[in-house]
Amino acid sequence: MPKWKVILNALKSIITGQKRISKKKVINFLNFIIFPLPDTKRMRNNQPFSVAEMRDRDKELLSLPIYKTFMRHLGKVSDKWEQYLQIYDRILSPFIIRNEPLSIMEMGVCNGGFLEVLIDFMPKGSKIIGIDINEKCGNLKFDNPNIEIVIGDNAEREFLDSNFSASNFDIIIDDASHICSNTIISFEYLFEKLNFGGLYIVEDAHTSYWKNAGGGLKRKGSTIEYFKQIIDAIHLYYMHPNQLNGKQKKMFEKYNPQIASISFYDSIIVIEKYIKPKTAPFRRYITGSDASILQDNSDSAVKIDKNSSFERFLL
Ligand SMILES: C[S@@+](CC[C@H](N)C(=O)[O-])C[C@H]1O[C@@H](n2cnc3c(N)ncnc32)[C@H](O)[C@@H]1O
Repeated sequence: MPKWKVILNALKSIITGQKRISKKKVINFLNFIIFPLPDTKRMRNNQPFSVAEMRDRDKELLSLPIYKTFMRHLGKVSDKWEQYLQIYDRILSPFIIRNEPLSIMEMGVCNGGFLEVLIDFMPKGSKIIGIDINEKCGNLKFDNPNIEIVIGDNAEREFLDSNFSASNFDIIIDDASHICSNTIISFEYLFEKLNFGGLYIVEDAHTSYWKNAGGGLKRKGSTIEYFKQIIDAIHLYYMHPNQLNGKQKKMFEKYNPQIASISFYDSIIVIEKYIKPKTAPFRRYITGSDASILQDNSDSAVKIDKNSSFERFLL
């Protein structure tokens, strides 16, 4: 919500006496006037994080657009780990530069604050669908008509299928239950709904190490272990086909043509879809005419493995 609107609403409430204003709201409002940042519920190690401390420590980060939008946000509450904002700035900036309206899905709405931050930040005309299992989220009202809420369980294929079988998104964010099996089910269904050139973002991937989320270090079926397989899928053509079991082969063949990269940040996983599907393994390009050190590539220390799948694509 713009600053002038917040001030106007607050003044209206004071003058008309329609709304009782809590002491906390007054403090937040004064903070907002005095400091450039509101003193909301920023939590660090479950302790409130004061505005003054935050400004001192991180003021250089305010030059990052999403960081600034988040920190100055005054509407509905959003709850993020501090490193996420810098990651979002990094990964979303190409979309901001391109400045074309986007279709976005956020799973896990809660108070709806991040939907507001995103709609403020993303190119004009972007649309966001928020999914939450909590029916109360269905009552949330947003100033921006491009935010829509759908109530349901993001780990239920039937729910996803009945609501999104014909949908496509440029950005999908999973900030819902963070239970490993749920994260995987949603990814397997929704990655197919991601447009080429799009990003699939899994937040709070640290729960992958927590037993109560179905995780554990190197535990099969944990979110991190599942997504580590994507690293292998990206390199499918360099492998010996016999190294793969049936399940791996199926997974790798499904994702190899689609996934351009996977990035593991602290607690965030970002999967990037190719701009267009890859239809064959990548080729080597050689440019230039002066090869005074190595004339013949056959001198390379490591030759193409005759047993790799790659070999069958070479003429
Ligand atoms: C961490 S909060 C979301 C915070 C919000 N994205 C933000 O940035 O402020 C997680 C939300 O996920 C919802 N949730 C939990 N399990 C879910 C499920 N299986 N399907 C959909 N939503 C779920 C919860 O009701 C809760 O509102």
